[in-house]
Amino acid sequence: MAPENDSLPRILEEIGDCTRCKLHKGRTKLVFGSGNPQTKLVFVGEGPGADEDAQGLPFVGRAGQLLTQMIDGTASKEGIPIQRPDVYICNVVKCRPPENRAPEPDEMQTCGQFLFRQLMAIQPRAICALGSTAAKALLGTKEGVTKLRGKWHKWNGIPLIVTYHPSYLLRAYNVAAKREAWEDLKKVLHYVYD
Ligand code: URA
Repeated sequence: MAPENDSLPRILEEIGDCTRCKLHKGRTKLVFGSGNPQTKLVFVGEGPGADEDAQGLPFVGRAGQLLTQMIDGTASKEGIPIQRPDVYICNVVKCRPPENRAPEPDEMQTCGQFLFRQLMAIQPRAICALGSTAAKALLGTKEGVTKLRGKWHKWNGIPLIVTYHPSYLLRAYNVAAKREAWEDLKKVLHYVYD
């Protein structure tokens, strides 16, 4: 699947000015990923929103601010000396779906190969899938986050935790889910950094 000596710069170069799926039509900037390529922990979201599309960076809007707080806050509380720039963050699809709809199967299929190559190139100690689209892409399951969270899964031999997408947590009624997401994050951070 991945060429020998694959690397993030090589994957980005191969993606190029991509027109492989219909999502390219609405794109301002392609959002490849950001963070430390030598990281032990990768977070995978769904796809860029409006802010990400404008800046070309993942998780920079409201959901992104919450993700930053979750990573930095949990790490600091748990005495783990990392912050958001120490992990790597990317998405299942690299271009913004219109009206922030969920990526469609053909789009996930086409772009998923690049996500898989990113993960293979980084070889993290663990992966955190944010929300059901990332879980579906990485685990090939239709199960919802509620069923999948709280236990370990594997992607290509790499331990994987599923938790709620930060956009879901931003909806006020989700107090219990917020607590659970913090527990999931604690679990994956301790596994990776202890
Ligand atoms: N939501 C995502 O899934 N990814 C982003 O990059 C931003 C919001």
